Amino acid sequence: MVLMSAAYKFSYRVNFVKPSPIRTLVSKISAISATRKVVSFAAGEPDPNVIPRDLYSTILGKVLHEEAKSCNYSPTEGLPSLRKSIADFMWRYEGVKTSEDNVLVTVGGSQAIDLLGKLFIDPGDHVILENPSYVNTMVDWEFYGARLVGVGVDAEGVDTQNLEAVVKRLLSEGRRVKLVYTIPTGHNPAGVVMSEDRRKHLVEIASRYDLLVVEDAAYNHLVYEGSYKPLSHYDKEGRVVYVGSFSKVLGTGLRIGWLNASSEIVEVVKAIKGPSDMCAPVPMQLLVDRVLREGLYDQIKRRAVEEYARKRDTMMSALDEYVQGAVYNRPRGGMFILLKLPVDVDSEVFADRLLEKYSVAVVPAKPFYLDDSGRSSIRLNFTMVKADEIEDGIKKLGLLIRELA
Ligand SMILES: Cc1ncc(COP(=O)(O)O)c(C=O)c1O
Repeated sequence: MVLMSAAYKFSYRVNFVKPSPIRTLVSKISAISATRKVVSFAAGEPDPNVIPRDLYSTILGKVLHEEAKSCNYSPTEGLPSLRKSIADFMWRYEGVKTSEDNVLVTVGGSQAIDLLGKLFIDPGDHVILENPSYVNTMVDWEFYGARLVGVGVDAEGVDTQNLEAVVKRLLSEGRRVKLVYTIPTGHNPAGVVMSEDRRKHLVEIASRYDLLVVEDAAYNHLVYEGSYKPLSHYDKEGRVVYVGSFSKVLGTGLRIGWLNASSEIVEVVKAIKGPSDMCAPVPMQLLVDRVLREGLYDQIKRRAVEEYARKRDTMMSALDEYVQGAVYNRPRGGMFILLKLPVDVDSEVFADRLLEKYSVAVVPAKPFYLDDSGRSSIRLNFTMVKADEIEDGIKKLGLLIRELA
């Protein structure tokens, strides 16, 4: 698609802009949903019926009434009380000792990722990430001129042996390796959780080759089996920047995320963030702060984890029954199952046909890959879809696969 027009003198960075493939699909799904019922496995969101909206409404009513400055700006880096709550949260839930000076509140993890791109990436810099990886980070950092280098993922997460070999090769070729980006828990779209050994290995690699790692922790709190420490827990040298988000447990629309980093990074991020947004929305900062301070987070998270684990199991059983020959993971965390179709078909064509013919929406995984290896893979979300629609949707997915075989 051509985004440039000769009539406008856009900045050179616009040359790097690609339209988000997922946004295009989402628009199509919503257009079709307006005319007929669609079973959607395409989301990356929590179930609206699991989010305690009534509780939020009570808390919001209170904070708007009680806090005289609830509708004024907060400091750019976030309300001091929320930064303190997040620092406590990092210790309690992640085993990371930090202080409010190292925490900066953002508009979702998305803004933290964008600010880090703005802060670190010069055109031509290399960024190493998982292949596949989160498409919005890829699009966002390519906008700053990043050259993305992918490293394969298996059931244990990114292959760190291979990652080290890639780092060595790039450095020996004289390339600038600016960042390593990883989604260790509940990977989007691969659905896998990185093993503890690989987490430690990745932190060692960062230390050995003097690299900075951005750890995207968006799904760290949706874990169904086992428990995992973030990379930041193993980092003793300030080489890991933790990007956190309350989206996936408390609600994507609240738009509260944060980054936890050295005070040096926090200070510069603060300076570049202020002119663009002044601060994250204050009523939402106050809401999240009260949820944390009043000890409500535990119960909200517990309910979400129980509900999504059940839905995951329903989807796994339906896949086992109706979709033979496909390769897919059993996610121990996150929201997604990545499925390699047993037929040689372009996943974008497949997703289109499934939506048109059977009114079932899935996300083609192709745009999440840096090469052609995801050509026939699709991403299935199991958290937002209604539990009683899962079997029907998967049955139809199986039908289309058989028709194409
Ligand atoms: C891997 C990953 N990182 C970050 C985000 C950003 O989420 P938010 O900006 O809502 O925190 C998402 C959302 O889908 C995601 O999947």
